Amino acid sequence: MYHAPAGRTALDENKMDTTPSTRLAELLARNQTYIPAGISSANRIIDPPIAFVRGSGAHLWDVDGKRYVDYHAAFAPYFLGHNFAPVNRAAMDVLQAGDSLFGAGPSQIEGRLAQLLCEKVAGPVEKVVFLNTGSEATSFAIKLSRAITERKHFIVMQGGYNGNHDELACNVFNTLADIGPRVSPGEYPLRPLGAGTTIEDTRFVHVINFNDLESVRYLCRRYPIAAVITEPILQNIGVVKPQPGYLQGLRKLADELGFLLIFDEVKTGFRHALGGYSSLCGVKPDLVVYGKAVANGFPLAVVGGRRDYMDFASHPDPRRRPFLAGTYNGHPVAVAAAVSTVEYLAAHASELYPAVDALGKRMESGILEIAARRGVEACVARQGSAFACYFMREAPRDLHDIIVNHNFELDMALRRGLIAEGVFFIPIATKQCSLSTAHTAADVDFTLEKFDQVLGRVLR
Ligand SMILES: Cc1ncc(COP(=O)(O)O)c(C=O)c1O
Repeated sequence: MYHAPAGRTALDENKMDTTPSTRLAELLARNQTYIPAGISSANRIIDPPIAFVRGSGAHLWDVDGKRYVDYHAAFAPYFLGHNFAPVNRAAMDVLQAGDSLFGAGPSQIEGRLAQLLCEKVAGPVEKVVFLNTGSEATSFAIKLSRAITERKHFIVMQGGYNGNHDELACNVFNTLADIGPRVSPGEYPLRPLGAGTTIEDTRFVHVINFNDLESVRYLCRRYPIAAVITEPILQNIGVVKPQPGYLQGLRKLADELGFLLIFDEVKTGFRHALGGYSSLCGVKPDLVVYGKAVANGFPLAVVGGRRDYMDFASHPDPRRRPFLAGTYNGHPVAVAAAVSTVEYLAAHASELYPAVDALGKRMESGILEIAARRGVEACVARQGSAFACYFMREAPRDLHDIIVNHNFELDMALRRGLIAEGVFFIPIATKQCSLSTAHTAADVDFTLEKFDQVLGRVLR
């Protein structure tokens, strides 16, 4: 069955009938006076409106003092939970010690983080550079891949999100009317994420479905492809996993056809394993991008990869050297937070990852049991701490599966019902839920109890 897709349009069509409290209304009114829509990121505009004022571990508190168990984790960085004390302390200590953003020469702490990543993050990382956001980092990875291959075109995934910049901001959640039915081999029309971009004019970006190797081959026959950039698990339309052999197939095609394989591990890195999903699936990309969980909520992103590839960033010939610059690149506060996060994860990896996976399993089997008992068609797609409940028979393999089969209305009604009960699943259909190491079995059981009650209510 076809349901309206998620996103602003669906939310706008489906406004909640709730009256904000006085405190929330005042906050919204003040912000909307001075900031367009009152919020500096389109993805944070939600219905029902909520303004959070405090986060600690697995919990958030809103402006009216109501507590929520948080499964949003601010779009996933808080793998160690909100305001994780050792990381916060590291960020404060670095300033107290007199470190600053010197803006000239190398910094000690940057070298320390680079060494830590290259030595502790097994696999793809022999050299790294630091940027502030995932978007800056994917933008640099694209430039780097072009400089290395001397080709201009690249392939992205329908349903993947790789950042907000001109080159990549397209085709995340689209309707069938937008992109048409599944094609393979082939490519989808470009659908920019907003106005004011040149992405359609340059024609360097090619969109295919995830899990479709034939379309990679098809495009490589038509264009000089510099890189395929993909999240190894699509985690911006829930949790869409690679089919067995798919990532290995991409690796093989990259070697055969001469493009670079870039894993965007902004969401999967450090959340699924210290070495990212790459270390779990055994596929080594040429370049990898990390962000989010690498600094547990502080703004830091990383591009890393093979030494010879990364060294293009300091190529002796300026015409072959991609431009890497940023006033705040390697800011000591974010770098200190990342050092503390990575050291903590490295020291505790053998307990943390299995513990959070066990919580994920508890959530998954609880949701499946509730759905079965209530006669609702549902599946849970999950990788460790990241999970998504789809109201459809089988876990999706690409965006088309979702837009054709998922029950969006039920998804939204459930999310809103949970919010009313103090469980924060962000009210955007299919969005991934994220457990953290701060969540407990009691949090999960509370969530399942509410899930059961709300599902019962919305089905009536
Ligand atoms: C997979 C992926 N890549 C890149 C980005 C962009 O990162 P940022 O929002 O830090 O610019 C995101 C953000 O959600 C993401 O999920």
